[in-house]
Amino acid sequence: MKFFIDTANLQEIAEANNMGILDGVTTNPSLMAKEGITGKANILQHYINICNIVDGPVSAEVIATDFEGMVREGEELAALHKNIVVKIPMIAEGLKAIKYFSNKGIRTNCTLIFSAGQALVAAKAGATYISPFLGRLDDVSTDGLQLIEQIRLIYDNYAFDTEILAASVRHPMHIINCASIGADVMTGPLSAIKALVKHPLTDIGLQQFLADHAKGNQ
Ligand code: E4P
Repeated sequence: MKFFIDTANLQEIAEANNMGILDGVTTNPSLMAKEGITGKANILQHYINICNIVDGPVSAEVIATDFEGMVREGEELAALHKNIVVKIPMIAEGLKAIKYFSNKGIRTNCTLIFSAGQALVAAKAGATYISPFLGRLDDVSTDGLQLIEQIRLIYDNYAFDTEILAASVRHPMHIINCASIGADVMTGPLSAIKALVKHPLTDIGLQQFLADHAKGNQ
């Protein structure tokens, strides 16, 4: 299972990367705004900065919602760095853009997936990744994990190459459950990734080992 971090914060990206288990990064316009990155030149430079930290796929989202606009923006984003994956919203025009980029060998991440039907058509259009939003479905009392399970079954039935990128991950159990189901990738906050490392019995056990070693080596 690949681990992506879902942030545009350079310090957090570097921290996750230094853990040695980071495979890529996802961003979205809200995450960029949260970091105060505004204006086209700054936004493009920020994507390059992220690519210079992590040697793996970096999703950069288009703002346009029409085919021509998405193609224009997507081509500009893809030209920034070899690691850029063009993130495209799940709308009819987005599907056309995904098909266009797929024919050109440019990788895409189809975002805002909330149903199996959306995942199916995105795969047929040739999306490299699809992002079902687990946490946002859970927020409205709908089982996000069940959706990922259904998409896994559909993709396996037809051997689609499209990777399931479980997004809107909020906590470590989301990550563990996604891994059990067979999501190809998960993207989540640094807090959820770091929480996987911790266990109170590990801390107690280590403390004991060190104390016993110290006693015997006084
Ligand atoms: C996906 O790529 C999105 O950036 C993200 O996972 C959305 O997560 P949120 O629901 O926590 O905003």
